[in-house]
Amino acid sequence: MIELIKKAEITHELDKEEIVKLLEDDSINDELLAAADRIRKKYVGDEVHLRGLIEFSNICKRNCLYCGLRAGNKNIKRYRLEPEEIIELASKAVGYGYKTVVLQSGEDEYYTVDRMKYIISNIKKLGIAITISIGEKTFEEYKALKEAGADRYLIRIETTDKKLYEDMDPGMSHEERKRCLRDLKELGFEVGSGCLVGLPNQTIDSLADDILFFKEIGADMIGIGPFIPNEDTPLKDATGGDFTLSLKVMALTRLLLPDINIPATTAMESLNKNGRIIALESGANVVMPNVTEGEYRKLYALYPGKICTGDTPAHCRGCITGKITSIGRVVSTSKGFRNRKLEF
Ligand code: 5AD
Ligand code: SF4
Ligand code: FES
Repeated sequence: MIELIKKAEITHELDKEEIVKLLEDDSINDELLAAADRIRKKYVGDEVHLRGLIEFSNICKRNCLYCGLRAGNKNIKRYRLEPEEIIELASKAVGYGYKTVVLQSGEDEYYTVDRMKYIISNIKKLGIAITISIGEKTFEEYKALKEAGADRYLIRIETTDKKLYEDMDPGMSHEERKRCLRDLKELGFEVGSGCLVGLPNQTIDSLADDILFFKEIGADMIGIGPFIPNEDTPLKDATGGDFTLSLKVMALTRLLLPDINIPATTAMESLNKNGRIIALESGANVVMPNVTEGEYRKLYALYPGKICTGDTPAHCRGCITGKITSIGRVVSTSKGFRNRKLEF
């Protein structure tokens, strides 16, 4: 097993069987996480990139079984922010020192391409990078967002197991999801994807496929988080994902894609009170603090136990800086684009 970790550290290549072995063996966890931390340091250094997350609408036309924002959930108060409010939040994020904002929402048709173009072009004037995370769109729509000034796009594959994906996301097509990722890449976005760990009936085999898929599509960013069952969804009685397994999937992703950006996800910290710091010491180099204000933070209820829902953007900015410096790392002052070190 230690030889396998060494191989991953030197060649950044493992086959599916080798990944499965490492995911199944819990006696090597410390070595695996430490190797991912070394590779993180070697390829992306000690800087941690902060992205200010704006959750601008919790309205969604989709029905993903795991998600609290699903259209079928009638127990949640819905909100949507007007373009001017979103631009205002982005401008405050600049004031807190963020060099990137992430505009995230459910799949809400109120935000037409024209509205998004207006929002993006105005935020662009602030001189920061923009990441969009608003779901599945056509090639033409993605193209318009890119031309308006969007730099990056996040769309998780959630799972590469087609059957599981289509069971979890009723009415959605796995092929279409992959089409989105291909189009975004072709349009020159920095592309972020990722998966959930611990979905019902998800296997270790399929998690190994997920990691290989990230490599295959040439992802620039990968976010991995445990699935956390939500009371207001059909999966309320499911077991949910394991913190350590999520961490291992993330560490293996760092070993195989050494120079990409990997966030320490909020879901990790929702399962472990030190989750983001542990993730930053196991391969991650990005944190996405919330810059949404007031009750909206709580209403963007993907899963229960979400951190920071009662805190202010200013508080989170100070909190996360303290945590990052406490482990000897530094908050980056750059926009934090992927700095390619290897061609695969
Ligand atoms: N637990 C953890 N993550 C979730 N997401 C949605 N619902 C949950 C949940 N119950 C994740 C999905 C989506 C991202 C925005 O939030 O992976 O892509
Ligand atoms: Fe909508 Fe995204 Fe939640 Fe699915 S995961 S219901 S697309 S917000
Ligand atoms: Fe929000 Fe620590 S980052 S309270």
